[in-house]
Amino acid sequence: MEAIGGQESTAMPRIGERAPSFKAVTTQGEINFPEQYEGSWVILFSHPADFTPVCTSEFMTFASMEDKFAEANCKLVGLSVDGLYSHIAWLRTIKDKIEYKGMKDVEVKFPLIEDITMEIAKKYGMIQPGEATTKAVRAVFFIDPKGIIRAIIYYPLSLGRNFDEIYRVIIALQTADNFEIATPADWRPGDDVIVPPAGSCGVAKERMEAKKDMHCYDWFFCTKKIDKDTVLGKIIKKK
Ligand code: BEZ
Repeated sequence: MEAIGGQESTAMPRIGERAPSFKAVTTQGEINFPEQYEGSWVILFSHPADFTPVCTSEFMTFASMEDKFAEANCKLVGLSVDGLYSHIAWLRTIKDKIEYKGMKDVEVKFPLIEDITMEIAKKYGMIQPGEATTKAVRAVFFIDPKGIIRAIIYYPLSLGRNFDEIYRVIIALQTADNFEIATPADWRPGDDVIVPPAGSCGVAKERMEAKKDMHCYDWFFCTKKIDKDTVLGKIIKKK
């Protein structure tokens, strides 16, 4: 831990690194992370506090999308620095009492970690003292089936997450792996994808002349089509 500008800061895991390991108590029993998730994508996300409105809207949304994530081989794991009984009471309140934007009777079946000591939150850089010293920010870690962090998004306390974007990231990461391509700005399944840049003058020339199934805006910027069914056919497994 180091002090920057008089504030305590913790190291943050980075893209490409192995997700830091921990064992934790959750609303679904103990978990051994990320080891027990090997073979699945996982979204590990933090929220500031139980019984708060933004977090409630987020949990209801995540829980309503859980099956959709599961079809993309992606599991959800939540975390806050509240205790287990607070978590249980909050999730029961959500199920029994809250109706929000057409969602009701919402059962949160994915694990919610208790992290009263903030040990896990600190390991993952979820405590950002400029925002709050006693609450986690809204962090989202996208972890691949080998336990490697592939993308990270952080939001402040006041900003509820965009779940379309979170789902888009999971689909885009898997598409990049499946087809060895990259995805351009605002990509969605069915949009053109980006072919890796030419690695030699010969390939650059060939691309501009032959083009084949590609569209080249210039030698370094070529796209190709992969239709939506082909993209999703490799990812989505309906139960
Ligand atoms: C909320 O989820 O509503 C919230 C939590 C902590 C600070 C501000 C808002």
